[in-house]
Amino acid sequence: MKKKYLIANWKMNKTLDESRDFFKFFLKKALTIPKTQIIFCPPFVGLFDVSNTLSGTEIDVGAQNVYVEESGAFTGEISTKMLKNCGCVWVILGHSERRSIFLEEEKLIRRKLENVLSSGLSPILCIGESIEERKNNYTKTVLHSQLSSALNNLPVDSIENLVIAYEPVWAIGTGMVATPKMILETNNDIKQILTKLNFDNSKIPLIYGGSVNPNNAKDLINIGNVDGFLVGGASLDPDVFYNIYNKF
Ligand code: PGA
Repeated sequence: MKKKYLIANWKMNKTLDESRDFFKFFLKKALTIPKTQIIFCPPFVGLFDVSNTLSGTEIDVGAQNVYVEESGAFTGEISTKMLKNCGCVWVILGHSERRSIFLEEEKLIRRKLENVLSSGLSPILCIGESIEERKNNYTKTVLHSQLSSALNNLPVDSIENLVIAYEPVWAIGTGMVATPKMILETNNDIKQILTKLNFDNSKIPLIYGGSVNPNNAKDLINIGNVDGFLVGGASLDPDVFYNIYNKF
């Protein structure tokens, strides 16, 4: 059976104390990994502590961002080497909040992706359309642009550990989850685009993100082409997050 992914994107939430409290409760739960690969992505300052807390478990740690250079005069930035040194295995790239609030363009996301791949870290590449783009039937065009700018001409074996997260921008943090039909169709479009880019789409896990919660998780995970979730708000409470895990 294909592996499923449950990824917690904590965004700019949780102090060290709050994060320790979370794991005090979460790690008491019955977690039958490797059924599902759980990955926690705390803020940068929490990475080292979370990966120490999780050492000896099968749960991975990921960062929410990274810069393209190894070291040097880049005030406020973090390198892949630093992430690896903190026990980090994954990096979220191209999240819509990075694209819209921090003005990250496709070119920069491509450079970040190349840097992450060459560092040996595994990327979680986020793509998704805005509500205007969906209303105007531009969803496939936008996804094509985001995927081709990030992945075009990359050697197939270099993206072995890539996970793609389809996150409609209008569904993120709004409670407006995409319908199963919409996700099924869009994921099929994404698979078609990947084939056009010369990748074997069956080898690339495709997860969904956008207002996932314990009430909709069952229907969403049963969609034939969804390999897991990227969860924001509902990953902040150990009981709520565990209830999502339990729907897999
Ligand atoms: P949400 O966020 O679950 O709060 O909608 C998802 C995400 O931004 O990855």
